[in-house]
Amino acid sequence: MSRVRISGRGRRRLEGGHPWIFADDVTATEAQPGDVVAIHAPDERVLGHGLYSSESKIRVRLITRDEHAPDEAFWCGRLARALAARRRMGLFDPAGACRVLAGDADGVPGLVIDHYAGVFVLQSGSQGSDRLRDVFVSALLAQCGTPRAIVDRSDASVRRLEGLEKRVEVLRGELPEVLEVREDQLLYEVDVLHGHKTGHYLDQRVNRRRAAELAVGGDMLDAFSYDGLFGVRAALAGARSVLCLDQSEAALERARRNAERNGVSGKLRCERVDVMRDLRARAESGARFAVVVVDPPAFAKNKAELAGAERGYRELNARALRLVDAGGHLVSASCSHAVRAEHFVQLLAQAATLARRDVYLEDLLGASPDHSALMVLPESSYLKCAFMRVDD
Ligand SMILES: C[S@@+](CC[C@H](N)C(=O)[O-])C[C@H]1O[C@@H](n2cnc3c(N)ncnc32)[C@H](O)[C@@H]1O
Repeated sequence: MSRVRISGRGRRRLEGGHPWIFADDVTATEAQPGDVVAIHAPDERVLGHGLYSSESKIRVRLITRDEHAPDEAFWCGRLARALAARRRMGLFDPAGACRVLAGDADGVPGLVIDHYAGVFVLQSGSQGSDRLRDVFVSALLAQCGTPRAIVDRSDASVRRLEGLEKRVEVLRGELPEVLEVREDQLLYEVDVLHGHKTGHYLDQRVNRRRAAELAVGGDMLDAFSYDGLFGVRAALAGARSVLCLDQSEAALERARRNAERNGVSGKLRCERVDVMRDLRARAESGARFAVVVVDPPAFAKNKAELAGAERGYRELNARALRLVDAGGHLVSASCSHAVRAEHFVQLLAQAATLARRDVYLEDLLGASPDHSALMVLPESSYLKCAFMRVDD
């Protein structure tokens, strides 16, 4: 068993709850990339076991505080407990989609597994999780019956920080020509090989449901729409019209097909634009909507990008607020983990002042609950979605 010895500061952080050990706090090791390591305090006491990375600033990610090293049965148990939680919440629907395993937050550092109507998509983001792939493929086969397919979609940019190549492979079974997934009444297609993330923004499911209720009878602007699911869902719920804006033509093509699939293409229009510029011009032209949704990509991927992100969120939301009818709603999301919920609300308040609107925070939701939010790992509570009523 490989081992790492950590500094007093690393020990205090680990015993304080947070499950990551940074490179500066590793004082001695002979571990190889991706090894399971025993974590030793300066006095040699074993503090638990983790996955080692030779490249990342996050040098060790804690797996367990147990003195026994994890074996294959341990990993199968981690999958079983994650599946049991989703089943208990009623989220593991054979025709639907959910995040089955949320990486570090579910005790399997670096490994995400999403389920889309019988297709499982693995996404590995660390040296350690790469070495666990085959164990989890076997565990899925043992615990979930015969899937339609298992796909390895390990091409996220974080792999660069771990010195890993990108990798996309169908590991088992075959993908259908078009993979259709159900979300309540909504039917949509997912491209697990080329779409964003593992093919889809699964984390927004609860927020789409809520936004659709607000849009009944009114017009919705779905900005940064990706494949249009805020909009299509709203149209299906009874919105009068929906306008989807995104820079990706492939995503907008899927939005149009999703609208058709759900019998609402007459209500939905898509435009390929740069949203930041478009919103300003649209507000100046006098356009107004009952509901405006803004769901941009992460403006801050780390703390160093925080100042720019603050400006971005303030300005984007000020522009969006000018487009909301009096008595209407702005639904505003941020997936930057470096911007905490309270901070995001402050930025929204500043946007309200800039836009000279009276804005009332009605609700602040997060990601759908299958995206486990481990309380000692604030980074896992990354998504904020504010529901605001807007008046003059
Ligand atoms: C977080 S995703 C949106 C997810 C979507 N709302 C959903 O529920 O599935 C962000 C989207 O913003 C788009 N995007 C990024 N920068 C943009 C820009 N400047 N203008 C327009 N779209 C942009 C990306 O193509 C991506 O589809």
